[in-house]
Amino acid sequence: MKIIQVEDGAELSKRAAALIIEKVRQKPTAVLGLATGSTPKGTYEELIKDHLQNGTSYANVKTINLDEYVGLPSENPNSYHYFMRENLFDHLNFTKGNHFIPDGMSQHLDRACQAYEELIRSNPIDLQVLGIGQNGHIGFNEPGTPFDSTTHRVQLTRSTRKANARFFDHFNEVPKEAITMGISSILQSKEIILLASGVKKAEAINRLLKGALTITFPASALNKHDNVTIIADREALSYELNPQHF
Ligand code: GLP
Repeated sequence: MKIIQVEDGAELSKRAAALIIEKVRQKPTAVLGLATGSTPKGTYEELIKDHLQNGTSYANVKTINLDEYVGLPSENPNSYHYFMRENLFDHLNFTKGNHFIPDGMSQHLDRACQAYEELIRSNPIDLQVLGIGQNGHIGFNEPGTPFDSTTHRVQLTRSTRKANARFFDHFNEVPKEAITMGISSILQSKEIILLASGVKKAEAINRLLKGALTITFPASALNKHDNVTIIADREALSYELNPQHF
């Protein structure tokens, strides 16, 4: 795994955006695997700035998102459909129909998962953007998820629901279920960049860099991939310096 150490969230966003822009310039038909959460927000802002200033075109780019809550309609501001429109899709020149996000409103969730997995297999992802949960989840693959998992339904852990509750009015409104690409789906990507910012991610990053390959820490599966870059800021890499703070 390659590590790019940056100072803070602002620099992280610039470095991550630069990698995405480079990919899209080299391959205008690139398939981008995208993530939600607060970490990639700044990266998406940088993509928008670049698009306005330099005209990087996304007309032939496809996007495939990692995950979505079950039961939140796309008009709900906490749905990942809404997040992606608001923070990225509405601001770049994407072609309608080139975005894919799991359908958490499907009446047939298992079938929706299978169809999503087929979509990933027939549109191999050139560059996957990942965040990381404090418990090491990637997408919504919680501890215990097998490394050979494909797109599936998942019961969210209380700790993940608590971490994400900051976006909701009440903890009880945080969905209990989600659809996520599996670990095996993520590992199919040709290249992966994992973004981590802030001291809350330091323990997870330390475990990712030092820890053993184990399903109790889903991100450790990334050690099996040969083209992963971690972009992390000083706080996210601070575990070694301040282990007593954790
Ligand atoms: C959610 C998402 C993940 C994301 C994680 C970290 O649980 N499903 O894809 O990586 O949160 O989010 P944040 O960047 O807000 O810390």
